[in-house]
Amino acid sequence: MPESTLNIPLDKLPRHIAIIMDGNGRWALQRGLPRLAGHKAGTENLRRIIRASVEFGIQYLTIYAFSTENWGRPPEEVQGLMGIVQDVIDRELEELNREGVQLRHIGRLERLEPRLRGKVLKAIERTKNNDRLILIVAFSYGGRDEIVWAIQRMMKDGILPENVDDEMVSRYLYTAGVPDPDLVIRTSGELRISNFLIWQAAYSEWYFTPTYWPDFNKDEYRLALEAFAHRERRYGKVSSSELQESNA
Ligand code: FPP
Repeated sequence: MPESTLNIPLDKLPRHIAIIMDGNGRWALQRGLPRLAGHKAGTENLRRIIRASVEFGIQYLTIYAFSTENWGRPPEEVQGLMGIVQDVIDRELEELNREGVQLRHIGRLERLEPRLRGKVLKAIERTKNNDRLILIVAFSYGGRDEIVWAIQRMMKDGILPENVDDEMVSRYLYTAGVPDPDLVIRTSGELRISNFLIWQAAYSEWYFTPTYWPDFNKDEYRLALEAFAHRERRYGKVSSSELQESNA
């Protein structure tokens, strides 16, 4: 059973949180800094939010770090982001490991250059027995790409059309075995899904905030979780209180 430092009943705590860490570029622009400075500040913040997630007792955290579309950014920004990931693995891996964080990856690793790919695979291997927090890094990830890949593999495996259902599709996604996100947070005021977990987030609750990612701190994270605790999740059905009233 997870332990939490939050004042929220455990059954009202999301098991899986997914975050679109948006606004690094605008955060930097606002300060007259290059975009990469924004990504560095965003990475510092990511470290704080990972620690807070462990403390809050969150079991799964998925972060959108680099989309399939992000390959189209200027080469120096793409290179810079790759360098940041490399640095993070070099500097933070042992600490994350000590804290019980298990690293996983979703997306197209084959597009990364071999050295970085090797580091990522090693980090995954190193942390595979940890279970305090499962940190899923969506890197070179796209939701449509994931669904196409799943369909291709189902066809290769000779799955019969009549055997394809929701559960089967879920099993063929990168996130097989991971519960769907309960809560998706998007920073920076954008109100879009941007090809992130488009299958898995079908019934997720959303929390949007104008705060740019580098400034999304632990207090605001706590507010997002408190807001979630007050949501009523109906999954397309009617609320239980309405049902009781209509049966009375
Ligand atoms: C969105 O801001 C952010 C990104 C595309 C990159 C997020 C990456 C990190 C925080 C790096 C750390 C990742 C790992 C795995 C260590 P934006 O550039 O789209 O901002 P803008 O919309 O204001 O331009």
